[in-house]
Amino acid sequence: MKHLLKMLDLTGQDITAILDLADQLKYELKHNIRHQPLAGKTLGMIFEKASTRTRVSFEVGMYQLGGLPIFLSASDMQIGRGEPVQDTARVLSRYLDGIMIRTFKQSEVEALARNGSIPIINGLTDFAHPCQVLADLMTIRERRGALDGLKMCFIGDGNNMMNSLIVGCLKMKMEVAVACPADYRPAPEVLDFAQAYPAFSITTDPLEAAVGADVVITDVWASMGQEDERQKRIEAFQGYQINDKVMAAAKPDALVLHCLPAHRGEEITAEVFEAHSDEIFEEAENRLHAQKAVLVKLLG
Ligand code: CP
Ligand code: NVA
Repeated sequence: MKHLLKMLDLTGQDITAILDLADQLKYELKHNIRHQPLAGKTLGMIFEKASTRTRVSFEVGMYQLGGLPIFLSASDMQIGRGEPVQDTARVLSRYLDGIMIRTFKQSEVEALARNGSIPIINGLTDFAHPCQVLADLMTIRERRGALDGLKMCFIGDGNNMMNSLIVGCLKMKMEVAVACPADYRPAPEVLDFAQAYPAFSITTDPLEAAVGADVVITDVWASMGQEDERQKRIEAFQGYQINDKVMAAAKPDALVLHCLPAHRGEEITAEVFEAHSDEIFEEAENRLHAQKAVLVKLLG
C-alpha cells in the first residue's frame, strides 16, 4: 500500500491490517504506552473544504506519533490561485513525508499521487471518504467482534460515504443493502464493483434495505459543495431517514453510525441519534486511531 486514495484500491487484507494496528494503537494510547514511530516526519494537510474531525484527528494523531502536521488551507496556497496540482505535488514531495488532502475532485487526489513521490491520503473527495470508512469498520468490528457476514444498511445519498461503505463492507465480506432515490445512486464504478457480489442490493425503499441489518448508517442529504442544491435535495430525500420504523426493521440490537456532522430531523431523528450516541461518538474517536494506523503504514 503506497497511498490511501479510495477503498477500491485496498484488499481485504490491507483493511484488516489497518484495523488490527488501529486497535493496538488505541489500546496503547489508553494505557499510556507511547511510541513515536514518525519522529522527524512531516505531514502536509491540504483543505479545500471545511473540517472538524479530519483536521483535528490527523493533527493530534501526527503529534502523538512524534511527527509534525502542517495545516495548509487551499485558499491560502497557490493551488487555490490555479497552480497546477502536478507542480504542487512535485514541490511538496521535496519538503514533506506525506500529504493528506480534502478536496472536490477525486482526479485531483489521484493526480497528486501520480505526480508526487510521497504517500497521499484522501481526507474526503466528492467520490470517496476512505478514512471515515476505516473508522466505521473499526467501530463495527470492535462492537461485534468480526465483520464477516454482518449486514450493513445505508440509507440516503449515493455520495462519498455510500460509495466508500459499499466497497469497504463488501471487501470485508459483509452483506450490503443501500436505499437511495433513483436520481441519487452511487457512482457507476462503485456499482460496477458491487454488482459482482451477490451480497449487494440496492433499492429505493429504506425499510426493505433495513430488514435484518446489524448496522444502519446514513449521511447528510446535501454534502459540502452542494449547498445550492439544498432545497431540491430536502424534497428528493423525504423518507430517507433513520427513524423508529427503520430501526424496527433492523435487528433489535442494530448499531447506528453517522460520520457527522448530523442534521437531526433530516437524515436521522434526534431520538435515534441520541439513543445511539455511544457508538456514533466512538466512531468519531476511532478516526484518530484508524488514521494513526494509516500514517504508520504509509509514512513509518
Ligand atoms: N466526518 C468527517 O469527516 O468530519 P469533518 O468534516 O469534521 O472532518
Ligand atoms: N458527505 C459529507 C460527508 C462529511 C464528512 C460531505 O461530503 O460533506
